Amino acid sequence: MIEKSLISLENEIWDALHAAVSDPQDPLRTVCLSTTGMDSFPESRIVVLRRAYHASKTIEIHTDSRSEKYRQLISNPNASLLFYDPKNQRQVRMRAAAMIDHQNPVSFQVLDTLSAHGKNLYGLDTDPGTKGKIDIQKSANYVEENSKKHFVVIRLKILSIDFLELNRAFHKRAILSYQDNSLVSASWMMP
Ligand SMILES: Cc1cc2nc3c(=O)[nH]c(=O)nc-3n(C[C@H](O)[C@H](O)[C@H](O)COP(=O)(O)O)c2cc1C
Repeated sequence: MIEKSLISLENEIWDALHAAVSDPQDPLRTVCLSTTGMDSFPESRIVVLRRAYHASKTIEIHTDSRSEKYRQLISNPNASLLFYDPKNQRQVRMRAAAMIDHQNPVSFQVLDTLSAHGKNLYGLDTDPGTKGKIDIQKSANYVEENSKKHFVVIRLKILSIDFLELNRAFHKRAILSYQDNSLVSASWMMP
């Protein structure tokens, strides 16, 4: 039996992520995604939160199939997400398993929903990570077919959440775990 206060907290976390998707000013709109590099070192970078689905405990991000993070997640789908909201000094750490949609009906359909600017980013003929100081406006050409070829949807299935709120009066920390889309355990703990 999960305590009521923890169920409310879980709802609050997902509601906040859901709200951030459509608000570019929301600090939760960007998230630090960590993967494991080919040399076993952790690799972290900022990505944009594109969708948050409470029902399926899934977070969606977008990337390019020529990126390191894509290669790393193909080789090892274990990922970690780190959100921080300075408004309420809340940190949300998530463990996740990555599921990848690339060159399939899902990636094509999501690509269709992007703005022209968004699509263009994936259609450049200069690969991300190419060495040199490249002026994208001048040196990289947009090739329409490239967008379909390189656009990747990554759905991160959330396995657990480590929540921390720092507050002058009290600190709160909770650990939540999921199995098959259900919250199976949750507990408050000493921060
Ligand atoms: C504000 C911000 C938002 C970003 N959003 C994304 C994104 O949604 N997807 C992405 O692939 N890279 C995004 N990036 C770039 C990544 O942080 C990273 O530099 C790049 O993808 C290369 O990472 P990799 O070599 O580990 O794949 C963003 C960077 C910043 C600063």
